[in-house]
Amino acid sequence: MSEAKNNNNSFTLIDNRTNEKIELPVFEASVGPDVIDIRKLYAETDCFTYDPGFTSTGSCESKITFIDGDKGVLLYRGYHIGELADNSDFMETCYLLLYGELPSPEQKRKFETGITYHTMVNEQMSTFFRGFRRDAHPMAIMCGVVGALSAFYHDSLDINDPHHRLVASYRLIAKMPTLAAMAYKYSIGQPFMYPRNDLRYAENFLYMMFGTPCEPYKVDPIIARAMDRILILHADHEQNASTSTVRLAGSSGANPFACISAGIASLWGPAHGGANEAVLNMLEEIGTKDRIPEFIKRAKDKSDPFRLMGFGHRVYKNFDPRAKVMQQSCHEVLDALGVHDEPLLEIAMELERIALEDEYFIEKKLYPNVDFYSGIIFRAIGIPTSMFTVLFAVARTVGWVAQWNEMIEDKSQKIGRPRQLYIGKTQRDFVPLHMRT
Ligand code: CMC
Repeated sequence: MSEAKNNNNSFTLIDNRTNEKIELPVFEASVGPDVIDIRKLYAETDCFTYDPGFTSTGSCESKITFIDGDKGVLLYRGYHIGELADNSDFMETCYLLLYGELPSPEQKRKFETGITYHTMVNEQMSTFFRGFRRDAHPMAIMCGVVGALSAFYHDSLDINDPHHRLVASYRLIAKMPTLAAMAYKYSIGQPFMYPRNDLRYAENFLYMMFGTPCEPYKVDPIIARAMDRILILHADHEQNASTSTVRLAGSSGANPFACISAGIASLWGPAHGGANEAVLNMLEEIGTKDRIPEFIKRAKDKSDPFRLMGFGHRVYKNFDPRAKVMQQSCHEVLDALGVHDEPLLEIAMELERIALEDEYFIEKKLYPNVDFYSGIIFRAIGIPTSMFTVLFAVARTVGWVAQWNEMIEDKSQKIGRPRQLYIGKTQRDFVPLHMRT
């Protein structure tokens, strides 16, 4: 049953074809827009609704993440993203997203230990990696290996068993950094590094990425903190394309590893998580500040498919609060690392300045999004461009998993099955091959 209240509010539609009135219940949001329940619309009007890209369609109830796109607000379980980025850490944020409340010190310790003790992957997975070309894009590898976890962990595939779901959730959050680092190590021909249980989540990831068996590797605490913050900022974002993909895949009863693999595939696109890689490629292509006007002109030209990557958002029409934290982080990290003349940062800042003063961008409410500055930080800490979206996937796994669990527990959810406006041929007779011209 749906938990939403309707307080007897309703919405009346008048069908101009028949002059009939249709009453549709309105469900109240705790904050943000209410929704009109259209579930009986088809039965009563013989019409579907039409909303390509789901710009006005709510697909589920959720208690996890709230966005106010006009005010630039992002809340995880009611907590402001800026506050979490400043005061929390990624493990605590994961707990919050999964369980709904911030943990007590004991709950946090137990959770972190639980995640830590699931970071290793089945040894057979390392041979699995060797089937890929060395120059494979790491996101291609991630789609494959994360889906393949379902072939390794048979004891956490029963989606109707809460314990199986919990174990699968821990496994996914814990193993993503290990698999991500393995994808990177494979691409550069270095040995895989086993996770270390004495390191915290972000540190452990950096160790597996940059350590080698030949010498001790000390993770820079500034870099580890920056990475942890980036993970918090990307951890969830309500019903975006990849999360909706995970929910849709999961709605058929598919196993969690397969669902998260579907989410990774959706995230990879340049309009979504792939934008962080695309931003850096774009900044490199721009190359010097004097070429910025040329690229702004191209972004405004409707006959040119070029878009300013890292700009615009379906929901944020004021500013992306994650981008604000990311911009501040970017300066802090570069200062801490003693990088004072990062040319790409200078180009990014100038591009942002020019775009924000441009009528086209003002009118269309296009602001820098989370991906605009993240790539510059990743680059400064030595992450190769092709790994940027992989890092987004590592961070977003907790959000996907939390949303997937919420969906399974929501008794009002059915298999996702959108309708369509059919505009093809009506029924016609088959013409045998010899009679076709
Ligand atoms: N550069 C130039 N024009 C743009 C841009 C851009 N980056 N983004 C949107 N527009 C224009 C677009 O051409 C359209 O113009 P018109 O109304 O004249 O046809 C108008 O702004 C609205 O754009 P839309 O594509 O209808 O809006 P959307 O909500 O479907 O798309 C978006 C949102 C994020 C896909 C889009 O802004 C975009 O492609 N941005 C660049 C890619 C990017 O940075 N993606 C990361 C998103 S944030 C991270 C994440 O959540 O994954």
